[in-house]
Amino acid sequence: MGEIDLNQKLDELKQIKNSFEQDLAACSSPKELEQVRIKYLSKKGLLQSQFSLLGKLPPEDRPAIGRELNTLRTSFQQALKSRAEELEQLERQKEKIDVTLPGYVPFIGRLHPITQTLEEIKDIFSEMGFSIEEGPEVETDYYNFEALNIPPDHPAREMHDTFYLDNRLLLRTHTSPVQIRVMEKREPPIRMIAPGRCYRKDTPDASHSPFFHQVEGLCVDTDVSFADLKGIIAIFAKKMFGEDVKIRFRPSYFPFTEPSAECDMTCIICKGEGCKTCKNSGWLEISGAGMVDPEVFRYVGYDPEKYSGYAFGMGVERIAMLKYGINDIRYFFDNDLRFLEQF
Ligand code: DAH
Repeated sequence: MGEIDLNQKLDELKQIKNSFEQDLAACSSPKELEQVRIKYLSKKGLLQSQFSLLGKLPPEDRPAIGRELNTLRTSFQQALKSRAEELEQLERQKEKIDVTLPGYVPFIGRLHPITQTLEEIKDIFSEMGFSIEEGPEVETDYYNFEALNIPPDHPAREMHDTFYLDNRLLLRTHTSPVQIRVMEKREPPIRMIAPGRCYRKDTPDASHSPFFHQVEGLCVDTDVSFADLKGIIAIFAKKMFGEDVKIRFRPSYFPFTEPSAECDMTCIICKGEGCKTCKNSGWLEISGAGMVDPEVFRYVGYDPEKYSGYAFGMGVERIAMLKYGINDIRYFFDNDLRFLEQF
């Protein structure tokens, strides 16, 4: 045997090495790894069997091939071992990722109960053809009082404990000034609601908060009557609180309406029987209302002989309290998640 045979032998060994490496890389389990070990390193394996062929080689080539075989055997053994470790690690990683576990549910916020109530009120009136208007929370004395027929010395100002910013500017005490702003800009017919924040210098208690929300309503046209007002309030109450709710109007006084009324609905807690919430009367107040005072029309330049209108103003917190059975207005503004999460 000469040099050619030696080189052939070395080539043969190289091929065994290549195919071993390919087989090893294709292994994805300890079982497959064991098969590779058997294929190459068992007694009759591809590499091991080369040792038995050593004797058939010319004596001068035996040491070189023998050395090469030993090196290959060691490197095969090591490669098998490290591949086994690799597979084991992969296996462990797989265990850590439990694909059957439910995913993390991200914390989803929700709308504040007052916002939800406001949205509901807006939907009900939008469906009936009312536009939704906004006005500034920082108002002038003129819009908040004077143009609503509440001159500076008028006793009705007592009802509104006002936060004044300076002589002229204040935080609006109600949403009624939006009526004036809309009428100044537009000619009748007008059908609008104005939802928004209001402020009064009230000491907080179960039914008072210095910060609260109202929804103002206004309808002006050539032939608007008190019956229209009653109809609208009745429909609103039924849509908001249920079909069997009844309403009633009690005479009242507001400087910007004549006649004026307080609207009540049957108590939703006791259904009119009398309970603590309705102070045993069977009725709950939901809105102030009335026919727009001709004086107000004069302020905005409408002809009171030609036009008539109704207006109403309701407290959103009060409506939300009745709807959800909440007995203290302060819950709305305490920002206690245990309360807010219920909505
Ligand atoms: N602005 C009144 C208040 O805050 C509520 C109100 C009563 C508004 C009668 C109206 C109305 O539009 O007609 O007490």
